[in-house]
Amino acid sequence: MIDLHGHLVYGVDDGPRDWREALELAQALKDAGVTTLACTSHIRPDRGWVNDRSVVVENLSRAHAVADQVGLEVVQGAEHYIDDRVFGDDSFVDRVVPYGESRWLLVECPYLGAPPDLLGLLHRIRRKGFKILLAHLERFPYACDDDDLVDRLIDAGHLVQVNLGSLAGAYNRQQQKAAERLLKRGRVAVLAGDCHRGSDVDECIVAGRKAALKLLTPAAFERLTVGSPRAILDDEPASKVFP
Ligand SMILES: [Fe+2]
Repeated sequence: MIDLHGHLVYGVDDGPRDWREALELAQALKDAGVTTLACTSHIRPDRGWVNDRSVVVENLSRAHAVADQVGLEVVQGAEHYIDDRVFGDDSFVDRVVPYGESRWLLVECPYLGAPPDLLGLLHRIRRKGFKILLAHLERFPYACDDDDLVDRLIDAGHLVQVNLGSLAGAYNRQQQKAAERLLKRGRVAVLAGDCHRGSDVDECIVAGRKAALKLLTPAAFERLTVGSPRAILDDEPASKVFP
């Protein structure tokens, strides 16, 4: 599995607090069949989490310090929160951390409610040459419960990521139902782990995989956890990632 959503870098957000916890997470991911992990530390000014391009070299070297111990491949990335301090003006282009060498960004919607013009904001990010993968859309009822909005987001070329743990009921029932619905409607481009600790891996990867395979063929599961993530790392357009 190529996991495009993970918090392996220690001491920078709500992920592992230190090297030892990060090593436990790396080992658990590797044991669960993850071969490549994108290190998507949170960029959230409201929580004091920086993790933008100014620290990408340091963050990636922290990730390597643990991942190399267990033979896990890591690539850079970030989980970009929709916040005026991140995307308020066009200077965001100098702060964002796309996946690896690609122009794909993992973007997290606000928890407090729908931004006034979500499509417009995403369009503005795209106009600067970026492509958008929406992090765990099942977590935002204002978006995932609105089929029309989801369809318009995808029609506009943005892609949807769902957490495997949501399908396993790792968070709450509402989120599980939303994740299942998105999957059954064929609206999901990528399934990912979003693990923050080694202890998350059982539910968020292992049980999640089992739950997903009740709704998907093995080939479809492979596409959402290997083929599409690889296409994103290869910087393919949305039409190729999610045909
Ligand atoms: Fe995350």
